[in-house]
Amino acid sequence: MKTRQVIQSDFLKNLKSAPLTLDTTILNKEKFLQILRESDGTNDFNLLKDKILTLKRIIVSFKDDREGILNIDSNGDTISLRKNVLLSELDQILEAQTIGRAKYYLKRLENGVQKIKTNKVNDVNLSRWKEYDDIITDSLWVLDKRDTSGVHLGWYWGNFIPQIPHQMILRYTKKGDWVLDAFAGSGTTLIECRRLGRNGIGIELNPDVVDKANELVDKEPNKYNVIAKVIPADSRTVNLERVLGEYDIKQVQLLIMHPPYHDIIKFSDDSRDLSQAKSVDEFLKMFGEAVDNATPFLENGRYFALVIGDKYSKGKWIPLGFDCMNEVLKRGYLLKSIIVKNFEETRAKRNQRELWS
Ligand SMILES: C[S@@+](CC[C@H](N)C(=O)[O-])C[C@H]1O[C@@H](n2cnc3c(N)ncnc32)[C@H](O)[C@@H]1O
Repeated sequence: MKTRQVIQSDFLKNLKSAPLTLDTTILNKEKFLQILRESDGTNDFNLLKDKILTLKRIIVSFKDDREGILNIDSNGDTISLRKNVLLSELDQILEAQTIGRAKYYLKRLENGVQKIKTNKVNDVNLSRWKEYDDIITDSLWVLDKRDTSGVHLGWYWGNFIPQIPHQMILRYTKKGDWVLDAFAGSGTTLIECRRLGRNGIGIELNPDVVDKANELVDKEPNKYNVIAKVIPADSRTVNLERVLGEYDIKQVQLLIMHPPYHDIIKFSDDSRDLSQAKSVDEFLKMFGEAVDNATPFLENGRYFALVIGDKYSKGKWIPLGFDCMNEVLKRGYLLKSIIVKNFEETRAKRNQRELWS
């Protein structure tokens, strides 16, 4: 029999397993499953619907809970589910035209509660994917504003919005995995690593920026006790075997590159800086060298996220995004997705919506 201590820790564990929002319902797992099984066990379609209707009433109003489904103080595990998703699954059962279909939906709900189905590259429970509304699965991202929470101060000209590494990390890594950001700048990726429980190494050419980035990264709470550090170096030549070796690892599970968009912003006077490249061709060559240097240290079957904007110069659109993507593809990577991000208000636009975006 479980002690109160164990119940508490199961309770917390379950809370963590689902992305919690204000409308999360916490249920007594055994009692909830028992009702699903009883409903599944009957061949009387009306009785099945009655049981599901009762369950729905309990979830909507705890006062109707005579079964103790919402009683998480009694012994037993708990399960936290998003209320709106759960209610829509119950509605689907109630609206089924045949008992066979209703049982199919019942079984799916039962499996979603019982089984954790993940894959190799992330921690998303595929049995409950509908609940992950914090992961954007579209290839067009329209974001209204930058995440400025905590130490995400947005102080660095040319940084990316934290939502980008946040999404990449959730989609392409598991807790405890290692992320390498080869153009780390102000350390946005590393801050996200600390938040999400991934280890992160950043490479950044400008030592002053490295110091400031590390200062902020260290201020971000480290509840998962991960490593997150920016190192001053040139991404094209840095000895990654040695850098990773310091942490006893040989490879990382996610590679992120957010290089300068050629010379749109000159980050420094250093000739090794990609923003100092004299031409687009030279920029692409330098970028390719950084890709070559990092590729052997990305685990096979894992992801490389390239984040870049195009530029417009002398009356001509220069598709740096596609050019850089081709540099990556030439090196044997498979293209998995192109995501376009639009951002309602940017600092460059002085918080105004303008004609061209
Ligand atoms: C677009 S910014 C990256 C910003 C970063 N994602 C952030 O959120 O702060 C590109 C960065 O690449 C750095 N950089 C340029 N050439 C580099 C090189 N050869 N090796 C390492 N970093 C370089 C620049 O100093 C700049 O900070």
